[in-house]
Amino acid sequence: MSNPIFINKRIDDFNKVINVSGDKSISIRWVLFSSLAQGVSKAKNLLMSEDVMATINAVKKMGIKVILNKNDCKIYGKGFDGYKYKKNITINAENSGTLGRLILGFLINTSNPIKLIGDKSLSKRDFSRVSKPLSKFGAKFKLKNNKFLPLVISGSNNLKPCTYFENRGSAQCKSSIIFGGMRTSGTTVIRAKKSRNHTELLCKYLNLPLAIKHKKNYDEIKIKKVSKIKPLNYKIPGDISSSAFFIVLTALLKKSKLIIKDVNINPSRIGIIIILKKMGVKFNFRNKRIYKGEKIADIKIISPKILKSINCPTKLNSGAIDEFLIIFLVAAKAKGISNFKNLGELNQKESPRLRWGKYILDQLGVKSIATKNSIKIYGNPKLNINKKIEIKNYLKDHRVFMTSVIAALAFGGHWKIHDKDSIKTSFPNFLKTIKKIQK
Ligand code: S3P
Repeated sequence: MSNPIFINKRIDDFNKVINVSGDKSISIRWVLFSSLAQGVSKAKNLLMSEDVMATINAVKKMGIKVILNKNDCKIYGKGFDGYKYKKNITINAENSGTLGRLILGFLINTSNPIKLIGDKSLSKRDFSRVSKPLSKFGAKFKLKNNKFLPLVISGSNNLKPCTYFENRGSAQCKSSIIFGGMRTSGTTVIRAKKSRNHTELLCKYLNLPLAIKHKKNYDEIKIKKVSKIKPLNYKIPGDISSSAFFIVLTALLKKSKLIIKDVNINPSRIGIIIILKKMGVKFNFRNKRIYKGEKIADIKIISPKILKSINCPTKLNSGAIDEFLIIFLVAAKAKGISNFKNLGELNQKESPRLRWGKYILDQLGVKSIATKNSIKIYGNPKLNINKKIEIKNYLKDHRVFMTSVIAALAFGGHWKIHDKDSIKTSFPNFLKTIKKIQK
């Protein structure tokens, strides 16, 4: 069902304080780690989205008890070898690349084959990027056309450690191999291009045998077999990737201010803030603190008088990988031409996002030139839309939907944006939060 939203009116300037829901990457990792802990783990502010529910359903399939209340979630882990499951089970990762890729790392010793499936979007994504390195441990995989879901993993009880070079800056691939290393005797060595480091921070907090050397362009991670994980109580901080839509909305208006409370500002995730600062947006961090290795703060954003174009340094790509669609809207309104390069990875996401970014800019009447891995955007500080725009058939990519809503609210026009339910993947409260700002 298409379930569209119609937007015909810009948003007025605002001065508000909001919260966003719990971080998706940390929520999924909390569920996975807790499912292997010895004892009961409890989380507050767990993101209640479809990706996280799919993760909870996956660990339930592995025989783990989960109790989900309105304000907290409890997971009754039975130890690092505590998964007990029936023969021939199927895990449905639905839309979640993070769940699908990470859980395979924990399943490399499975005694019975396990099938992994996903929705239409996930079934178009490359799973050989994890099945190939995980095969080096000794696990066996069968994938559709050697690359796609559905796949079947058959574990081994004779695992051997491996060396893996991760050169895309993919935290999902890195984490999957870290999880594999935890199952394997000996030392697994990963040389990974910098990417979000929530898995490593959780390992450190849990005192797991993981060592990291930070080199200039990559991290060298060594991981040894884990025998026990202690229960993990966690208050999940707000998601910077969900905050990004409201950061940009503020940046695109004239006289607005916004405070977003309790957001995770892990340095490996704040590419959007560094990029927008370079484009002229003002930020303040308040109430900064460290929680279980993660940095958290209230973020204040003040709309700038003028937005500047940017030649975006490619070293910022990984820290803003989920935010480029929304960053392109800022470039659309900036004075001058902005360039974003080395972004081929964007086309590997829930939808081919570089192409969708270009499509949205075309709809806005903003000139852009895109290649397979770059985009040049000719900004227009007076951008003002008055036409009908329809956004559909975008593989229900939550970030395409939310970016379109922000474009409609900031630039005007008469929008019909299909598949409102796509927000359930990562940010079910997105439209409610918009309403809160509009009041
Ligand atoms: C994620 C890693 C990123 C990101 C995704 C979440 C994670 O994917 O796009 O939304 O939680 O590890 P890649 O690892 O494919 O870059």
